[in-house]
Formats: sequence, C-alpha cells, structure tokens
Amino acid sequence: MNITEIAASRFTTKAYDATRALSEEQVAAILSLLQTSPSTLNLQGWHFHVISTAAGREKIAPAIFELNSNKVAEAPLAIVFSSINAVSEQHLDALLAQEQQDGRFRDEASREKNDAGRRGYVGRYATSPEAQRHWMDRQLYIALGFLLLGAPALGLQATPIEGFDTHKMDKILGLEEQGLHSVVMATVGYNSDKDFNAQLPKSRFPLDKIITRL
Ligand SMILES: Cc1cc2nc3c(=O)[nH]c(=O)nc-3n(C[C@H](O)[C@H](O)[C@H](O)COP(=O)(O)O)c2cc1C
Repeated sequence: MNITEIAASRFTTKAYDATRALSEEQVAAILSLLQTSPSTLNLQGWHFHVISTAAGREKIAPAIFELNSNKVAEAPLAIVFSSINAVSEQHLDALLAQEQQDGRFRDEASREKNDAGRRGYVGRYATSPEAQRHWMDRQLYIALGFLLLGAPALGLQATPIEGFDTHKMDKILGLEEQGLHSVVMATVGYNSDKDFNAQLPKSRFPLDKIITRL
C-alpha cells in the first residue's frame, strides 16, 4: 500500500487481541517513529512512557476513562505522551549538545548562531508560561500523527486516546517531579473481532467543505 492508501484504510481500533504480543523489533519501530517526529525548533520537549507489561497496565488503569479501559488493558503496547512544563536553560543546553554531537554545526559560529536564534524564538513564542505550555503540547500531536500513520504501515493497529484523567496520570507516573505533564496517549497492537470500527466505513467531510484553493 502507498501512503494515501494506508491513510484511507487506517482506523481507530476499539478492541485489541490480548493474545497477540508485539516483538521487540515492532516496539522499537514504533518508538523510532516517536523519536524521528519533528518538533518546533527541534525542541523535542516531550517524554514517552511506554507500557508493555501487566504491572504497567495495572498501574495506569485508574487514570483511564471507562470507554478506553478495555483498550489499555488488552493492547500489548500503551504510550503516554508527556510534555515539558517549561523550556528550561538546561533543556536548551542539552539540545545544543545533542545537535553538536550529531554533526549539525559546521563550526563554532554556526553553533552559536543556531543557539541564539532558537533562544530568540523561544522568547518570542513563549510570551507566558501558559503559551509555552500550549506550544509544547501541540508538538505531541505531531508525534501522535506519526504513530497513527506509522502503525498501520508496520501492519499494526492503533488508538489515539485523550479519554483519560491527565491529573491522575501525572500523579501515577510522578510527572510533576520530572517537570512533565501528560497530554495524550496511544495504544498499539492487533485488533480483535470485537473491534466494531474495523467494519465501519470511514466518514469525513467532503474535500470541497474543508479545502479552499487559491
Ligand atoms: C487526539 C485524539 C484523541 C482521541 N481520543 C479517543 C479516545 O479517547 N477513545 C477513542 O476510542 N477514540 C479516540 N479518538 C479517535 C477518534 O474518535 C477517531 O480518530 C475519529 O472518530 C475518526 O475515526 P478513525 O480514526 O477511525 O478514522 C481520538 C482521536 C484523536 C485524533
């Protein structure tokens, strides 16, 4: 299948086959989709909690809304997407060091220019702590999109999940202490025959309603 066929045929999985595990290679492929996802200024202001054990699933269960509890209980993989509470100096320094290590700068001047440019943008966009938080949170949805399209490309099914209590999740995972807060989740695995959404036709507004060409 090409990418438009994958996009048209993917669907939100409503029930998983708990007997079908994922291999380490499959999990690694999913995690690499998250790692390679782009983010504004390459900030990567995110952290992903990867739940693939029964103990992990039980631990996060109290934060999951009823309509999603079966998915989190049965999917072999659940991921909690969290965002940094603020873009700290430490984060900017660590990012610059990583980019240097990865060979992004041809010389010291280009490194300094990049760093100063990024700090300037952070100051311009993050006009308040709330604005900065929302800005970082938006980046997580790009990673979620990578996963939602990438999972079916790898022969897997996935569910995007906002239906959970972020405050409870933050407490369960001790996110506040890590300078993080949870935003969204996803589950990945193989769907079961109880997955009613697999049989339903896709429903979307027509192109002429959502697209204006100039
Ligand atoms: C950000 C986001 C959060 C969602 N949260 C949930 C959720 O908590 N539970 C659920 O069953 N579906 C959830 N969905 C799935 C949507 O209902 C679904 O994507 C939409 O109805 C379109 O259907 P499709 O994904 O099958 O094409 C979510 C989708 C997105 C993009």
